[in-house]
Amino acid sequence: MKTIHIINGPNLNLLGRRQPDIYGRETLADVEAACGKLAHSLGFSVVFRQSNHEGELVELIHAAREEAVGIVINPAAYTHTSVAILDALNAFEGPVMEVHISNVHKRESFRHHSYVSLRADGVIAGCGTEGYLLALRRLATLVGD
Ligand code: DQA
Repeated sequence: MKTIHIINGPNLNLLGRRQPDIYGRETLADVEAACGKLAHSLGFSVVFRQSNHEGELVELIHAAREEAVGIVINPAAYTHTSVAILDALNAFEGPVMEVHISNVHKRESFRHHSYVSLRADGVIAGCGTEGYLLALRRLATLVGD
């Protein structure tokens, strides 16, 4: 079975408790369960990870090079700062979908720039945690079955 890696950046472990007015009340475990269910129905398996550390996120992207046909990534704050994460994604050969739970374009101007968007095949922002499911559907289209 083909595998999709879903990678989450800093503070997303607090999802559901962190600024729920912006990020909603669903937890990351809820998102993982919903992604697993959808991926299964699309014929994929999912590896779901989160880290608060930039280097660890780079390592997770390297692991995806060996195991994944595609990546869904919410790099959180590193979206706006990390050339290292961009470089790691550039070393990954399959499709990459970038997800933001909030609409970053409606927020502070420092959130309007994304290094990851220089690599991403698609970007979903402002659709809440449903954005992960939309990204999975798009990846399934991109990698075929
Ligand atoms: C985020 C948006 C980022 O600007 C922010 O730093 C996050 C989460 C989102 O999912 O909306 O931590 O990526």
